[in-house]
Amino acid sequence: GEFITVKEFAEKLNKPVAEVIKALIFTGIMAGINQEIDYETAEKAAKSLEVEVVKAKDDSSGISDDDQDDALDVNMEKRPPIVTVMGHVDHGKTSLLDAIRKAKVTESEAGGITQHIGAYTVTLNGEKITFLDTPGHEAFTAMRARGAQATDIVILVVAADDGIMPQTVEAINHCKAAQVPIIVAINKIDVEGANVDRVKQELTEYGLVAEEWGGDTICVPVSAKQRIGIDDLLEMVLLTAEVEELKADPNRKAAGTVVESELDKGRGPVATLLVQKGTLNVGDSILVGTTYGRIRAMFDDKGKKINSAGPSIPVEILGLSEVPQAGDKFNEVKDEKTARGMAEARKIKEKSLQQSTMRVSLEDLYSQVK
Ligand code: GTP
Ligand code: MG
Repeated sequence: GEFITVKEFAEKLNKPVAEVIKALIFTGIMAGINQEIDYETAEKAAKSLEVEVVKAKDDSSGISDDDQDDALDVNMEKRPPIVTVMGHVDHGKTSLLDAIRKAKVTESEAGGITQHIGAYTVTLNGEKITFLDTPGHEAFTAMRARGAQATDIVILVVAADDGIMPQTVEAINHCKAAQVPIIVAINKIDVEGANVDRVKQELTEYGLVAEEWGGDTICVPVSAKQRIGIDDLLEMVLLTAEVEELKADPNRKAAGTVVESELDKGRGPVATLLVQKGTLNVGDSILVGTTYGRIRAMFDDKGKKINSAGPSIPVEILGLSEVPQAGDKFNEVKDEKTARGMAEARKIKEKSLQQSTMRVSLEDLYSQVK
C-alpha cells in the first residue's frame, strides 16, 4: 500500500527499527514505531540508509505480503464487489449508503460525523454488494487509506454545492495509489446552488474526465436525501464489478481484514471482519495481528446470528482474547493453541522492537544535548 508503519518498514529493510527512526530523523521526520509514513518519506529514509526501494504494485486482494498462502487458492469463484464510499466531510457518504440500504445510520451518529468504517451488504437483483462507509473528517487519513486498499471500487461522493475539497483530493490520491476504479457520485443535486458541471470541471484537474466529456470516469448525479439517481449509481457499480471479474476461493482457510473493533462491556472484544478469502465459520481459530481467538459467535450486518461467511462478507465476531486494531489482517489457523502461540510470538517481537526504539530516542536526545 501507499502507507507503511515505521516498524513494518524496518522489517522490510531488514534493519533495526532504531536505525530506521534515526534515518527518518536525519530526513527531518520525527516518527514513532507505529506511525504510518508514505512512500516518499520511506524512500528518503532508505536512501540515507543506502538501501534502494522500489515501489510495488498493490495486491488487489488487500491482503499484505505476510499472507503467503496464495497457494491455497484453488477453486476461484465469483465474489461480491467490495465498494468503499469516500469523500469530503459532510458531502453525504453515510446518507448515500442510507439511501442504498433504506436505513438511517446518519441519525444515530454523534454530531453527524462518521468516526469509523461501517460495513454493509446489500442484495440487488440477486447480486450482493458489500459497502464500506468511511469518515470524511481530515483526522481519519489512515482509515481512508486502509479503506482504499481493502476495496474493489470506490464511490467518490462530491457535493454538487461544494465541489472538490481537500479530502476529496486525498481520496482520489488513495485510489490512484491503490489502483482502484472510481465512480463519482455527484450528490446533493436537490440543493440550491448545486452545479454538476462545475464538479465535472474540477474533476478534470485531477485526471478524472467524465465519460460524457470524452473521458472514462463514470459520474452519476444523485440526491441521497431525495433518493434520486440511486438506481443509476448501483447499476454503474454492478457494471464496473462485472468488468473487474472479482473472484476468490471460498473453500480455503479464511483470511481478511479487521474493519472495526471495540471492547463491549458485556460481550468482551468485538470485531467486524471483512472476509476476503475462504469461509469463516463459528468455531474457527484465528490469528488477528497480535491477538487471537476461537470464534464463539458471528453476526451479519443486520445483527442476525450466522454460522459462516464467505468472501467479501463483513461479519461481527465474538471470541477474541483482546481487541484487535482496525486494519489488522486476520488468518484462520489450525487450532486455538497454534493461534495463541503465533500471537504471543508476534507480541514478543513487537515489544523488543519498541524497546529498541526507546533506546534510540534517548541516545538521540543525548547526542543532541551534547
Ligand atoms: P462524514 O461521515 O462526517 O464525513 O459525513 P458524510 O459524508 O457521511 O455526510 P452525511 O451523510 O452525514 O450528510 C451530511 C449532511 O448533508 C446531513 O445533514 C445530510 O442530511 C445532508 N445531505 C446528505 N445528502 C444530501 C442530499 O442529497 N441533499 C441534501 N439536501 N442534503 C444532503
Ligand atoms: Mg458519514
